[in-house]
This record gives sequence, structure tokens and C-alpha cells, in this order.
Amino acid sequence: MSKEFDVKSAYSVRDKVVIVTGGGTGIGKVYSQRLAQGGAKVVLADIVAEESNDVAEKIRDAGGQALSVPTDVTNEDAVQAMADAAASEFGGIDGLINNASLMSVLPRGDWFEISADRWDSVMSVNLKGIFLCCRAVYSYMQERGGGSIVNISSSRIWEGNPNRLDYTTSKAGVVGLTRALAREVGDDNISVNAITPGLTMSETQLASSSSNYLGGKDEGKCFKRPQTPEDLVGAVIFLLSDAAAFMTGQTVNVDGGTYMH
Ligand SMILES: NC(=O)c1ccc[n+]([C@@H]2O[C@H](COP(=O)([O-])OP(=O)(O)OC[C@H]3O[C@@H](n4cnc5c(N)ncnc54)[C@H](O)[C@@H]3O)[C@@H](O)[C@H]2O)c1
Repeated sequence: MSKEFDVKSAYSVRDKVVIVTGGGTGIGKVYSQRLAQGGAKVVLADIVAEESNDVAEKIRDAGGQALSVPTDVTNEDAVQAMADAAASEFGGIDGLINNASLMSVLPRGDWFEISADRWDSVMSVNLKGIFLCCRAVYSYMQERGGGSIVNISSSRIWEGNPNRLDYTTSKAGVVGLTRALAREVGDDNISVNAITPGLTMSETQLASSSSNYLGGKDEGKCFKRPQTPEDLVGAVIFLLSDAAAFMTGQTVNVDGGTYMH
């Protein structure tokens, strides 16, 4: 039986130790900043060391708790070292946001122009990276008696958006991984859920997309305005919080109401 719902604390991330992969730039940076503002102890695991260190330093300067551990999520040893460093610094691990991805660096184009090497790189970061991070935190979450994993997919999977076939395929794989892993770790009291963001005006998305591409994207939404990283924070924090304790294996779509399922 679950205990009585404590509405005062259920939605809080205070004192939770949360790893944010790709936390140094783009949407991951915003997750890191908002989690820290909510009192979480944040571990930024991004391949871009300078940006990641800078975000962590600014969080600490503002009175929050953050540790930057520059990490390539495709490197098994580096991922384990990152999880070990997180647990050593903050005493355990409660949450993992698998946000690191090859996306904004991928040129859009016809599927038959994608090289086999690029395909492998995308699968390596976007899928193997998630697998390695989940595996590295598993024993720490078991020690805590549970944990929450949030995997970042994309609303592209609902429509099957073209022009980044490798990326869309990898993000559909994220949902399969989420569902199967949720069944494997339920007995450990670990939740595994996914989020499918719509096209989001992250700093990296804006820098890598033409105004032509970004224009006209609001028409199919219920809320006809551009989506920002801040629009995703609430859903991510909810899935990390005790309020979502009985939700697992789910995929939550956050796109202003373009797709409904
Ligand atoms: N921006 C959007 O429109 C949008 C839409 C749907 C889903 N998403 C997803 O949301 C997440 C964040 O999006 P974003 O716009 O900030 O994307 P982004 O591509 O700009 O950022 C991804 C982050 O991952 C990091 N990264 C890349 N390779 C890595 C590696 N090997 N190891 C560790 N870190 C690595 C990058 O340095 C970057 O900080 C991604 O998973 C993306 O696929 C974004």
C-alpha cells in the first residue's frame, strides 16, 4: 500500500540527486538550472566541458548545488566514473535525465544521403548512451531503495518526421527502451518514463535551424506559440518527483497539443 499523499512535498525535488546528461547547453542546461533552483543536487554530464563547468559554477554562485563531470555518454568507463563521482559527491543518486543527444549538430537531408558512420554515431549517443547511463546508476538507485529515470525522446516519432531519419529512428528506440526497462526495474522501485518534446527553441536549435525551417510551425498546435525549454521543465520535474511514484513505462507528449495520444 502506498503512504498517504503529502501534497506539500510530493512535487518537490529538494535534496534529490539528479544527473542531467547533456546538461551544459540547450534544453539540458535549463533542466539543470531549474532543478537546482528547486533544491536538487545536480550533476551535469555533458561532452562539452567548458559550457558544462560554466553552468555548474553559475548554479553554485547562485547558492545551488551542482557538479560538472564532463562525460562522453558513449564511453562506458567515463559514464561509470561519472555516476561514481555523482554518488561520491552527493551521497547517492535519485534521478537521471537522459537528455544528451545528437540532434542540433545533424544536417537535415534526404535519408539516402546519411552515411553509415553517421547512423552509427547517432545510435551510439542517442541509444547506447542512455543504456550505459541507466546501467551505471542502477546499483546506486537500488541502494537508495528506488529512483526515477526520464528519457528524452521527440514528438517526431508520432508523425515520423523526415529529413533526419537516423535521429527520428533513435528517438523511437528511446520509447522501446523506456517500456522494456520499466518492466525490468519495477521491482527495484525505479520508474522509467519518456518525454516527447515538440520543436523547441533551445539555444542550440535556434543556432542550427534556418528561420525558414522554424517558421510556420505553430499552426497545428492548440497553443499557437513557439515551444521553449521552460515548457518542458514541469513535466520533467513531475516525473522525477514523488508525485509520479506510480507512473512508469509512459511516454508524455509535451508539444502544445500538436499530437494527442
Ligand atoms: N530542441 C528541440 O526542438 C527538440 C525537440 C525534441 C526533442 N529534443 C531532445 O531534447 C534534448 C535536448 O535538446 P537540445 O535542443 O538541447 O539539443 P542539442 O542537440 O543541442 O543538445 C544535446 C546536448 O547533448 C550533448 N551531447 C552530445 N553528444 C554527447 C555525448 N556523446 N556525451 C554527452 N553529451 C553529449 C551536447 O553537448 C548538448 O549539450 C535532446 O535529447 C533532443 O534530442 C529536442
